[in-house]
Amino acid sequence: MILAGRGSAILPPTMPLVPSRRTITSIPDRVARLVTHGHVRVSDEELRRSVEGRVVLVTGASYGIGEATAKRLVDAGATTILVARTAERLQEVAADLGPGARAYPCDLTDFDAVGALAEQVLADHGAPDVIVNNAGKSIHRSIAASAERFHDFQRTIDINYLAPVRLTIALLPAMRERGSGHLVNTSTWGVYGMPIAPGWSAYLASKAAFDTWVRCVAQEIRGDGLTATTVHMGLVRTRMASSAVTQGMPAMTPDEAAHIMCHAIVKRPRLAGPWWAGPADLISNQVFRGPTEALHSRLFTESEKRGWGMGGYPG
Ligand SMILES: NC(=O)c1ccc[n+]([C@@H]2O[C@H](COP(=O)([O-])OP(=O)(O)OC[C@H]3O[C@@H](n4cnc5c(N)ncnc54)[C@H](OP(=O)(O)O)[C@@H]3O)[C@@H](O)[C@H]2O)c1
Repeated sequence: MILAGRGSAILPPTMPLVPSRRTITSIPDRVARLVTHGHVRVSDEELRRSVEGRVVLVTGASYGIGEATAKRLVDAGATTILVARTAERLQEVAADLGPGARAYPCDLTDFDAVGALAEQVLADHGAPDVIVNNAGKSIHRSIAASAERFHDFQRTIDINYLAPVRLTIALLPAMRERGSGHLVNTSTWGVYGMPIAPGWSAYLASKAAFDTWVRCVAQEIRGDGLTATTVHMGLVRTRMASSAVTQGMPAMTPDEAAHIMCHAIVKRPRLAGPWWAGPADLISNQVFRGPTEALHSRLFTESEKRGWGMGGYPG
């Protein structure tokens, strides 16, 4: 089932539209958190020292990881600029989070509107101290099911790549002039850590594009005192991760993901993700890339025959 115009491509009918941020986690979920990002620690006090009185812009703050991250930032005393499309929902979230939260509704795939948003933010708050490029869209669909769906590639590249580029280049000059700032990119372990998987071509290519962009730009802005972190996030139970294929899998809660995002804001590592992402990436995507892809290919063919959903579900 397609949820048109929303952050999630495929929602099974049983899945609530907005999973609770505070869902009590099962043991497999706890294990997933420990195995992926269990080494990440940032106390409320550390976060407060880092962001109190500062301006942090979070895109995709109306739901999921962005909403939970914005909550922690507001609680820690940051002026937190919330950006997402759905104005009503964004106002609700801002009202819930309190006076530190400011709602700036914007469809980030409308690039003129993004320019206007950046101008407004600079006029209202000056250059942000941190930009969290988090808004995104996931599509899980095989190439066979995509023949008549070029728009899937267009919309993932628009929101996952061009939108954060447009927003960042509009705000960067003011941040560089001030001589400080941090960019955080919510990426996925699907592009670093896990073997590149069939069925995710639109999503993973668009996420990889922004990862590479950040990696290039980080080198250019470092001399001006700016830093960048790419977070290779594991599975998080949000609207986006509601597809039938990910539904039963162990996953983190949005609050746990927010903890990882806040760690990225405070510690500013170049990369943040599962501690084993580097070795796993080396093994599965480089040393044993041939056998890994051959295995995936066999599994994919079997999956298409038996309807396991490895390539997503048509529709
Ligand atoms: N969930 C996971 O397992 C997982 C894993 C790895 C990485 N990630 C990444 O984490 C980020 C957040 O995902 P999530 O899981 O929190 O998903 P989510 O709950 O669906 O939230 C997506 C957010 O992006 C916003 N958004 C989507 N299209 C937009 C547009 N055109 N303009 C402005 N805002 C837009 C949505 O708001 P509106 O609909 O109101 O616009 C929403 O606030 C994404 O970049 C995703 O790729 C997620």
